[in-house]
Formats: sequence, C-alpha cells, structure tokens
Amino acid sequence: MMKTYILLSLCCLSAHFVSAYDNGVARTPPMGWLAWERFRCATDCDSAPDSCISEKLFMEMADRMVEDGWKDHGYTMINIDDCWSEKQRNANHELEPNHTRFPNGIPALVDYVHSKGLKLGIYADMGKLTCAGYPGTMGYEKIDSQTFAKWKVDMVKYDGCSSNSSEQAVGYPLMSKELNATGHPMIYSCEWPLYQGGLPPKVNYTYVKEICNMWRNYGDIDDNFDSVKNIIQWWGDHQDVLIPAAGPGGWNDPDMLIGGDFGLSFDEARMQFGMWAMLAAPMLVSVDLRTIDPRVREEIYFKRGVIEVSQDPLGVQARRVKGDNNYQLWVKSLIGGDQAVAIMSTRTDGFPAPYVFSLAELNIENPADTYMLTDIFDDEQAKPYSLTDLIHTVINPNGIRMFRAIPYKTSTLVEENIIEIDIL
Ligand code: GAL
Repeated sequence: MMKTYILLSLCCLSAHFVSAYDNGVARTPPMGWLAWERFRCATDCDSAPDSCISEKLFMEMADRMVEDGWKDHGYTMINIDDCWSEKQRNANHELEPNHTRFPNGIPALVDYVHSKGLKLGIYADMGKLTCAGYPGTMGYEKIDSQTFAKWKVDMVKYDGCSSNSSEQAVGYPLMSKELNATGHPMIYSCEWPLYQGGLPPKVNYTYVKEICNMWRNYGDIDDNFDSVKNIIQWWGDHQDVLIPAAGPGGWNDPDMLIGGDFGLSFDEARMQFGMWAMLAAPMLVSVDLRTIDPRVREEIYFKRGVIEVSQDPLGVQARRVKGDNNYQLWVKSLIGGDQAVAIMSTRTDGFPAPYVFSLAELNIENPADTYMLTDIFDDEQAKPYSLTDLIHTVINPNGIRMFRAIPYKTSTLVEENIIEIDIL
C-alpha cells in the first residue's frame, strides 16, 4: 500500500504529476472542524461544562455541522485534539479516553458522528508525552494504530512534542506504516515538517508526502490577523518548495481557520478563508459552531465558489506572482484551464483601496485570449477580459478580492449571445 501513486490530470492544459501517500483518502483538502485553536486544553467540566474537551462538545459540534448546513457544504470531519485521554495507559498499554469527560468511550462517539454522515479524527503525539502532557505514542505505535482502527476513527493528527529530530525521523514513518497496516484508512496528519523547521534540507517533502496525507509546516495559528498574515507570507516566500509538495492525497497545512472567533474582522476572516482555498489547505474550522455569527458562516464558510476553488480536483497550490507590503496577487490553476485569482490587500489606511492588474501578470501557461471573470465572494456578473485588459478592483482594508477566470473564445461568447466584445 505504500507504493507511489501517480495522478495524471485530465486537464488539457497542464499535466500535473503527484506522488502521495497511497491510502485512498484526502484526495481533496479535508474539510471540517478541529477543537484546538478555540477550545485548547480545557478539562474542567465542572466550571466550563460547555467548552471543556468532552464527548458532549464533539457531539454538539456534530449536531451543528448537520443542522446548520456545514455538512451540505462539504464539511465532514470532527476532530479531537490534545487532552482527550487518561493520564495513564491501561493494563494492556492502550490509550483510553478520560472516563469523566468521555463516559461512553470513543467508539460510541464515533458511532454518533458516523450516524450523522460525518467522520471523527483523533490526536496523538509521536514523543513520550503530548504537548499538553498526556501519554505519547513512542514505543506504542502498533498498539495505538490498532486501537484507532478498532475504534474506526477516520483521521489521526500526529504531533511531535517530547521527541527529538532523530526520533521523529523514525517515528513519523513508523506510524504511517502501522496505520496503513491496520487496513482501516485514516487521514494521517503529520506535524513532522513543523518540528524540522519547515524547509529543506531538514525537510524532505518528497518523502513527507509519501507517508502523510497532510502536514503542518509552520507554527501554531493564534486568534489574530498578524498570525494569519505571517502564515500567508511564509507560504509565499517558500512557495517553490511548498507548491510541488501539494496535490491529491497530500497537503501543506497552514493550520486551522479561525474566522468567527474573537480576533478577525469580517474582511480578515474572508481573507483567511479565501487564501486557504487558494493554498489548497485543509479547511478545518476551529470556531464555536453554536455561537458563530451566521453572517460569517453563510457569507464566508458557505461561499460555494470559494469551496470549489479549495476542492478543485487538480489540487494545485496557488502561486504568489506579485507582492509588496500592501498588495499580493496570487493565482491557482483549476481544472479545465480555469484560474482562481486572489488579490489581498493588507492596507489599513482607512479606505477601500484601488488595485489594477491584468491577466497577463499571472503568467498563465498556455493562456486563452479571453477570460470571463466572476467575482467569487461578491457574486458580481461575469465580465470578459483579454490578457492585457486592465482590471480595476477596489479592496477593503485587510481584505481580499477573488475571481474565477474561465477561458472563453470570442466566437463562443457571440454564439451563446452572452456578450459581444471588441477584440482588436
Ligand atoms: C501543538 C500543535 C497544536 C495542538 C497542540 C496541542 O504542538 O501544533 O496544533 O495540537 O500542540 O497540545
């Protein structure tokens, strides 16, 4: 099962070859919910019954995912993070969930989540202890893999606290092998590259994507815009290393989506969501779904055009083609020669800022003469642009504009009576 997987894209314009972990899962970036950024390691259910790490929390999030429409938009994972287990393994050396907070056990929680058509992810750590001091998996890789498979969990996030780099070089591949050996497919989310500094020569992304389905490359996200901005900057600065690593079955992971918590404005939340879609990043929301502002849910997380960019079957990660302290222009190739275009503005000097660009700046491989551009967030009517036409946009402070550019031939436009344009 560990053999190299080759995907030959059907797209006529760009043949895209990807080798990835061959366990059949995460062919597009996983979408769902992850507890950590919002709920951390709250274990005192007496004083915080609604926000402690407990089966009640995960069941309530599963309820919201279904009842509020998340599932219909493709969000299917419910992920447990640190602090779920007992502080000691049982007599058979197995992990067990904390008995007070998970009184019915993980299999019952998995059943509940599965009964809603969702999937459950769990967290472990390849070192001696998890980052919050719970039992680590080092030396218990086989037992823990078999436990997770027996419980029928669908994803394992594998952290790296309490281990050194040579232990990690053994531990991450070993866990991949043991998870695979169970025969029960689980998305394997590694933090290995993060612990190695995220870059070659310490990180060998060719190898990482042969053993993991997604991997954290960079530090933890926090609930503020600087944190989001730093992550995007790092992704742009190191894109030549990161872009070839991403593709169906294996994804760079810039960490959770936090729009809807406390720290981001509406525009900043839109920028994070739009950019995570551009970056083909896992879309794991870490927000209290019971209290999220419905406008953030409906107008950001449920924005169909953005989700289509995120879930595009080619799985190409966007490239930053231009950037300075104020604006960044990004492009991502989509199936059928379409292009997703994002312009980020990090200006905050008080007014919606004008930005002018042309499609020629995107350096599209084998470009069409004309593209129809639809504004993905604002649902403006599609307009045609030649490669050299100037496209005038206006962007809110810390905002994003995102377009889908669809190749169009002049003759098609006229034939379909969509629009008549003058092409010189
Ligand atoms: C960190 C990890 C976070 C979270 C936390 C739990 O190392 O990057 O995403 O899992 O540990 O303790």
